Amino acid sequence: MVSTVSSIIGGRPVEGAQAGTMASLNPSRLADVVAEVRLADAATFAAACAAAKRAQPLWAEIPAPVRGRTVAAMGRIVEANKESLARLVTRELGKPLQEARGEVQEIIDTCDFFLGEGRRLYGQTVTSEMPDKQLFTFRVPVGVAAVVTAGNFPVAVPSWYLVPALLTGNTVVWKPAEYAAASAMALFELLQAAGLPDGVLNVVLAEGAETFAGLEQGLQAGTIDKIGFTGSTAVGGRIGELAGRHLQSPCLELGGKNPMVVTPSADIELAVQGALFSGFGTAGQRCTSLGTLIVHESVHGEFLAQMAATVSAAAIGDPARDVLYGPMLDQKFADRFEEYLAWIQPQHKVLGSSGVGRIGRANPRAGFVGDPEAGLFYHPTIVDGLHAGDALFSEETFGPIVGVTSYTSLENAIELANAPGYGLSSCIYSGDPREVFQFRKGVSAGMVSVNNSTSGAEAHLPFGGNGKSGNGSRQSGMWVLDQFTRWQAMNWDYSGHLQRAQMDVATVAADLDFRLEG
Ligand code: UN1
Repeated sequence: MVSTVSSIIGGRPVEGAQAGTMASLNPSRLADVVAEVRLADAATFAAACAAAKRAQPLWAEIPAPVRGRTVAAMGRIVEANKESLARLVTRELGKPLQEARGEVQEIIDTCDFFLGEGRRLYGQTVTSEMPDKQLFTFRVPVGVAAVVTAGNFPVAVPSWYLVPALLTGNTVVWKPAEYAAASAMALFELLQAAGLPDGVLNVVLAEGAETFAGLEQGLQAGTIDKIGFTGSTAVGGRIGELAGRHLQSPCLELGGKNPMVVTPSADIELAVQGALFSGFGTAGQRCTSLGTLIVHESVHGEFLAQMAATVSAAAIGDPARDVLYGPMLDQKFADRFEEYLAWIQPQHKVLGSSGVGRIGRANPRAGFVGDPEAGLFYHPTIVDGLHAGDALFSEETFGPIVGVTSYTSLENAIELANAPGYGLSSCIYSGDPREVFQFRKGVSAGMVSVNNSTSGAEAHLPFGGNGKSGNGSRQSGMWVLDQFTRWQAMNWDYSGHLQRAQMDVATVAADLDFRLEG
């Protein structure tokens, strides 16, 4: 069944298609059109921001514990629809069903965390340096959050923005990835069913250039107070510049070149399992996907042999069945992946499959599950022998490809881990606590896993990166509250006369020359 999806502003679908239409396809069966998407233009984006601005004061008036009840209802509604939302994610983005279920669970977990925050949105009472005076802090909503998200986590990552933004009294304009429009619309409907007033959550389906122009218009009009963006480092930089011109700091969650260090004391089998999941899960299209394996020279041969055998034997194919991974998310990711594959050099050693590139009748993959010709399926590729100067070593390569290099000392491994300049996730496999803590201290990543893969963040730990992976903002748990609220400081002097801070402050005389005898 093909549905038509449109932007929603102020609770109503936007008529027409200001910027044309596109089809959102099932990437594992390209003949299956999941939705006809009506695309909006920049002016429509700006209109959504204006609608959100109008709705915000009333939403902020609703007591936070009541908004928390709304978040609780969202969680229960998503939970009751878990299977159908997961199946839609699998159909539209090609994520294996088990992973899609995990993704939906992440929304539920996020709601479960924030429902209580409505009763906990603490400020502080702070002592004053003067008598008869009291200091306080309050968290206030920023206003309108414009949230632009990618399609690799089409519903979970958006929920990391939408749920806390709404809970803290903001209204939202959400611009999901166009190729994930049906999943986005399903999430919108589920959240809306919790009883959000019209205009509190708006969705705009638009392409990148129109969105960027719409952000610019909204910022100029004063109808955007915070931008949240998950996507590429290049676009994140442009959004950061734009926001900076309007004196705003966006919440940026960008790319990664996430390293896995395998030390001589590692459990090799465990490390191989971790590398398999983080390198090839979601066909390597997570921000947290494994980039480069940095393996100690003494275990490099053993590790690589096990890794190559495991990847070669892994089931790849139809995401509705039991596979390690399915197709690329969308044609544009497949096209870009072909460019990354061209970075493989003659001196590199390629392992992991019976071929490289798109899987098909002419380039088969042993044990493929389903019909490879039907969708955007790619061979898993392990590239050994990388060096710090190689593009495959330094650039993010969104797709089922993992690089391998070796190291001699842990200092050397940490240097290699940081060299690409990203800093999202990282991991170390080691049985030696000294190595683990040395790595934690030295690695530039915002997230460090020990004897666990680079993927698999839980919904209540700070998520975010440094360097080319972000501007230091953090999502999830209590840390994201600082993205969607601002601190207001209040002081209340009830002494009845002017008490000047720093000047009219009592002192207690101390004998600073006092010394113990002897
Ligand atoms: C992302 O790739 O943008 O840790 C988010 C993970 C997931 C979230 C990834 N829980 O892999």
